[in-house]
Amino acid sequence: METVAACAATGGAHLRGHVTLPPSPDWRSAFPSLGQRVNGHPLVYLDTAATALRPTPVIDALVRFYRGDNANPSAGLHTLARRAHAEMEGARAIVARFIGARDPLEVSFTRGTTEGLNLVATAWGDANVREGDEIVIGMAEHASNMLPWRYLARRTGARVVTFGVADDGLPLLDDLTRKVTARTRVVAFSHVSNVLGMINPAREMCAIARGPGRIVVIDGAQSVPHLADDVGDLGCDFLAFSSHKMLGPMGVGALWGRRELLESMAPYQAGSNMAHDVDLTTEVLSEGGLKYSAGTPNAAGAIGLAAAIVFLEAIGRPAIATHEQAVTRHMLQRLGGLPGVRLLGAPDASRRIPVFAFVAEGRTPTDLVRALDAEGIAIRAGDLASLPLLQRYGVRAAARASCYLYTTTDDVDRFADALTRAMRA
Ligand SMILES: Cc1ncc(COP(=O)(O)O)c(C=O)c1O
Repeated sequence: METVAACAATGGAHLRGHVTLPPSPDWRSAFPSLGQRVNGHPLVYLDTAATALRPTPVIDALVRFYRGDNANPSAGLHTLARRAHAEMEGARAIVARFIGARDPLEVSFTRGTTEGLNLVATAWGDANVREGDEIVIGMAEHASNMLPWRYLARRTGARVVTFGVADDGLPLLDDLTRKVTARTRVVAFSHVSNVLGMINPAREMCAIARGPGRIVVIDGAQSVPHLADDVGDLGCDFLAFSSHKMLGPMGVGALWGRRELLESMAPYQAGSNMAHDVDLTTEVLSEGGLKYSAGTPNAAGAIGLAAAIVFLEAIGRPAIATHEQAVTRHMLQRLGGLPGVRLLGAPDASRRIPVFAFVAEGRTPTDLVRALDAEGIAIRAGDLASLPLLQRYGVRAAARASCYLYTTTDDVDRFADALTRAMRA
């Protein structure tokens, strides 16, 4: 019988064989949706922070699974079931390697960042957080890294305490240091803000936050796609992220957790697969991350996520970083030259991923979305699920342009020119 360890040992080599290298340096040709016109114009897609585009190898991986392996994964049954199992466990190994985890069993497939954070808040929080305890989060958090902790606090009688953000958008480390006390059970923060794109000093923050009887949780929704966080280096206890923000399919993501914590926590949901030998009164729980995956898994999603990782690795983190830095510098220069446009966060390319929230004098963020959409340019606007952070900057809504490896400086120019026209109209 194939075991998780045996599948993991291949490192998902079978999957790598199916993912062809993008025709370097033209990565854009791998993204079919970029070929379309929107409202009569070639699409400029600047909404990656909400969800990224998918390259052909990821779409092919999903189609291949459903056309070929299409079986409920099982290690010891018929050929298709074994193949599906091997592909899925290979995917787990690829995810684990990508984030520097020592053991694939430290990775649990989830529906995304939101589910990963809820899983920790429920499975660890309900058992370990008591009345009078404190949960420390940043004021810059996305709603998905606020509400699971707020609900945990309501269930247990604990209190959520927030640490602040400086004008440049970076966390106030003094404030974090003050807020972490003997009462703190959880410290949760994002490595990169979905609004500001600022890269928080996550390793330093983990060092401040760590302590006995306490967990440190990182929301990696915006960082894993751009920085490929290394859990060994960060020093956190849990890292949650989403596939769809890193070229993979929607509806799947991963939670990494320290093995000893995963073993000690109660299951998040109960059902098939998270346990075996289930009789009328007893059951044997599955190991590590498998314990948190009740029911039939999103096998195609997990395989698609792994295909996205293989694609990212084929291009290489240094090449992506160099490209993103060039796009970021160009965007900062163009936005900086637009009178009436206020960028949120520091205009410092070296501390950012290419995500830019801004407000424009005399134009609501929704006005801007409409004006740009008419020219085939997709941006996002609203409270960006981060209202407390926007309020910190004196606004309740902002527009956001967000880029990835497929964004060009020409895209940035088309965006900035259209924004200039929208401001004049
Ligand atoms: C920083 C951050 N955290 C959490 C989430 C939630 O991710 P998902 O909706 O994929 O669960 C997002 C999504 O925008 C995000 O940007």
